[in-house]
Amino acid sequence: MNLSQFPRRGYVKSPTPIEFLPRLTASLNAGIEVFVKRDDLLPGTLGGNKTRKLDFSVARALSLGADALVTSGAVQSNHCRLTLAWAIREGLKCHLVLEERVPNSYDPHGSGNNLLFNLLGAHGLKVIPGTADVRAAVEEVAGEIIQKGHKPFIIPGGAADPVGALGYAACAEEILSQEKELGLKFDYVICASGSGGTHSGLLAGFSALGSAIKVVGVNVRRPTSEAQKEVVADLTARTRDLLGLSGGIDPATVVSFADYLGPGYSLPDAGTLDAIRLLARTEAILTDPIYTGKALAGLLGLARTGYFKPKSKVLFLHTGGVPALFSYQNYFPEVAGQDS
Ligand SMILES: Cc1ncc(COP(=O)(O)O)c(C=O)c1O
Repeated sequence: MNLSQFPRRGYVKSPTPIEFLPRLTASLNAGIEVFVKRDDLLPGTLGGNKTRKLDFSVARALSLGADALVTSGAVQSNHCRLTLAWAIREGLKCHLVLEERVPNSYDPHGSGNNLLFNLLGAHGLKVIPGTADVRAAVEEVAGEIIQKGHKPFIIPGGAADPVGALGYAACAEEILSQEKELGLKFDYVICASGSGGTHSGLLAGFSALGSAIKVVGVNVRRPTSEAQKEVVADLTARTRDLLGLSGGIDPATVVSFADYLGPGYSLPDAGTLDAIRLLARTEAILTDPIYTGKALAGLLGLARTGYFKPKSKVLFLHTGGVPALFSYQNYFPEVAGQDS
């Protein structure tokens, strides 16, 4: 796999840490060892997985002479926050289209990422209903920017295209080189699977490098495992194609569990909230109710039901998302100093 053939901006200056989680591992008592890869600590305003993708996507935009980025996401989108953040660092304008996937969920005075869109100063912000045609809305915004004499570049929601997925092919390479340094071999990598770019990039990277690590996705948006696997298989094949690799991958290696989605996208259930509490209270690591809390609930649920082979080393890919935690305060009624 030769990633040096693709332009990139160099946003990821060093590998993110891989840490053993001794207290979480002990509390699980499931005969496995759990590690975390801290992509929540990636550079970019408050970190997270989109920095790896935007490293390639923004390089492509600049290579085409763009002076503005247009992208879309949900009302608490980490992808929109990071696209805006990197646009600012590059001296580009950034226009966001926010989808109300849960009706009436946009609050102009909302906290979390919503606050950050305002603080960072998005150059345009358009809110559309979740049922609207997102691509049409994004193209309309791009058309208005062209009319004003500028050159917009559209980054798809989640930077979920083969260019963005290269960021996670690079992450697969990084994990394999960290395995060597740390003298470890991981059996599984588990991640949130939403737009599918993270999951697909990992699959494309590991398959290109001949690794046997199993990538396990946890659905955070689509209600069925089949629907998510279809999206991921397609994007993995297109990413491999961009990398110049022939053929798709064995469909049996595309795995995503829908059992931890809760009531739907961005809506946590008790399992999500308990998982967030457990990691906070055993390892002082924060996760969020939309993405990483659900992926973690998936890891815990699969461990408890014996999915992982005994003695497995399981790597939880922490993809970030913590800014949104602060807009879910009402879900955590506990009072410090009291047992709950
Ligand atoms: C914090 C976080 N984790 C995971 C994901 C899912 O990643 P992907 O969209 O690449 O499937 C997202 C997507 O927005 C995210 O913001």
